[in-house]
Amino acid sequence: MITHWLDSIDSTNSEALRRLPELPSGTVLAAYDQTAGRGQRGNTWFTEPGRNLTFSIVLKDLPLSALEAIRLNFLASVALVDFLDAKGVKAHIKWPNDIYVSGKKISGMLIENTLGADGRVAASVIGIGLNINQREFPQLAMATSLSLCTGLEYPLEASLEEFLAIFEDLLPQLSDEELMGRYASRLFRRGVSARYHDLLSGEEYEGVIEGVEADGRLRIRDLSGRARLYRFKEVSYLL
Ligand code: BTN
Repeated sequence: MITHWLDSIDSTNSEALRRLPELPSGTVLAAYDQTAGRGQRGNTWFTEPGRNLTFSIVLKDLPLSALEAIRLNFLASVALVDFLDAKGVKAHIKWPNDIYVSGKKISGMLIENTLGADGRVAASVIGIGLNINQREFPQLAMATSLSLCTGLEYPLEASLEEFLAIFEDLLPQLSDEELMGRYASRLFRRGVSARYHDLLSGEEYEGVIEGVEADGRLRIRDLSGRARLYRFKEVSYLL
């Protein structure tokens, strides 16, 4: 992978999408300052300039159909958890791809795919925000960083290369069952009774996250014993 560091950009995902035709697979665009970082559900991703990792990985011609593209979320999530493990920080994955440490979010991702005429993923822009050295999150009570977890400071460039080495090693396992198993084993709230909001029916209920289906749907068993399956944005976690 080849990393390009940008001093300032609106969003590394937007920049990668604008330059997609000319960027070879394996290009990584990283920014010291991201002025209009984009998050899930149209949210803005706020980050202190020069303190955190904000980057996008460009991959092309993936052996994935549109339905299998969710595996990219699994791969990137497992890579983030492995990276944090290596720093002595135990993280969990809030399905589908938010990374939490002790109930606080340390990383989020926004994956934007383009499909080819054959229905396969022609290109994927995997945008990751990973909080590294930021110590204060004035507007975000539920955010944390690597530095807040360990008390240490980390060089951004070397940290990114460490993460990318882990990511690249995992890449050949994109379609392996084992990756899925590792992803499921680190799910936040797995095996614990908690409350959920079914966004399809509007119902709130108590259930236990059991794991994920082969197609990436989250499986929650409610108290009546019924297994409920969800795609992205069909369920939310209640506190
Ligand atoms: C989320 O949890 O809402 C997803 C946040 C994704 C943020 C990253 S930072 C690098 C890349 N560029 C963007 O504009 N967004 C992603």
